[in-house]
Amino acid sequence: MMKHFALTEDIYWVGKIDDREVPFHRLILAKGTTYNAYLLKTEKPTVIDTVDMEFGREFNEYLSQLIDPREIQYIVINHTEPDHSGGMAALANKAPNATIVCTEIAVPELKEMYKLHNRNFLVVKDGDTLDIGGKTLKFKETPYLHTAETMITYCEEEKILFPCDIFSTHVAVKDIFADEAGFDITEDFIGYYNAIIHPHRRYVRALIDALEEMDVQMIAPSHGFILRKDIQKYIGLYATMSADTVKDKKVTIVYTTIRKNTKKVADHLKRIFEENEIQTTVFNADKSDKAEILESIKEADAVFIGSSTKYADMIGNLEEVLKEMVELNLEGKIGAAFGSYGWSGEAIEVIQDYLNQTNMNVQSTSNVIKTTGMTHVEFPVRVRFSPKDEQLNKIEHSATFVADLLRSAI
Ligand code: FEO
Repeated sequence: MMKHFALTEDIYWVGKIDDREVPFHRLILAKGTTYNAYLLKTEKPTVIDTVDMEFGREFNEYLSQLIDPREIQYIVINHTEPDHSGGMAALANKAPNATIVCTEIAVPELKEMYKLHNRNFLVVKDGDTLDIGGKTLKFKETPYLHTAETMITYCEEEKILFPCDIFSTHVAVKDIFADEAGFDITEDFIGYYNAIIHPHRRYVRALIDALEEMDVQMIAPSHGFILRKDIQKYIGLYATMSADTVKDKKVTIVYTTIRKNTKKVADHLKRIFEENEIQTTVFNADKSDKAEILESIKEADAVFIGSSTKYADMIGNLEEVLKEMVELNLEGKIGAAFGSYGWSGEAIEVIQDYLNQTNMNVQSTSNVIKTTGMTHVEFPVRVRFSPKDEQLNKIEHSATFVADLLRSAI
């Protein structure tokens, strides 16, 4: 029988220690990791998160040493990625009476992933509470920390925060409590933050503000060490690491437009950058001096180039600007293409091809997904006709992403 770690007299760690070199988010976790799940053995027994799908059977056997799974009333899934929800495939069958507790976005994901279409779900929103018989769980939605459906769970009576990926470490721990590790875990804690959380730092800052309203005495994340001492030190590290570290950044936006729709995209980009206190200069390439545009590009930290599409190509003087850009040394700058179009938007792709010939860090949806997992940020920024509602949001997501890249460096 494996050792059972107890957080309190009725809350148990029921996870899996994975001491392999684990492939994970295009990294190799040299120190392994753990998948931490928790059993709250109250009047309405509750499991918070599960383990990687590879260890589902082991997880259920381990859990069964502590409780008959048929007694489990709630399974809280803070995050649907399979390293935490993977045990659901086996647990859902063993615990037929359990209601699955998660955010609205998580419901269809879990149903599809684990064939749970006929199960009871309880959708929770920010601030909702759940009485599990002697203890109260309070939920906070944390979208994009680090995926859209994520939430954190707080046990009010025990003052324990279960934040899933947040505040984690990738270490195949021997002793689950950081204060019993026998070494300072700070380096591992920071390394995890940099690898997984930092791209989402905008949302970390909101979380840190929310935590000020909560009395957190223990943090029980879903990878690595449980933190029960120096809690404010670890929260403070997240506050420091997610803060803006770089100021006085500049963006240059250059466009050509047929019916002012691409101009509207440029204007909205400018608005978002200025809301982020980033100095932004906009040029209509057909009405501005080319030398002045190129000088601004040389001084900028990020460059957005956009055009309407006509006859499957850019319009106006923009190509003259791009031809000169590919001859410049633009290393270290961020580049992005944008444009409004009516049918296929070929001009936007032609601009992207030009930008890819420079030595800028040119943004693409593919790279954003690979480096951050964010699927709501699109590059190039493609808008059909006049940008409205959803498209304005799309422009905002892209500009905000670049603003965050510009203002924060590790
Ligand atoms: Fe540990 Fe986002 O999974």
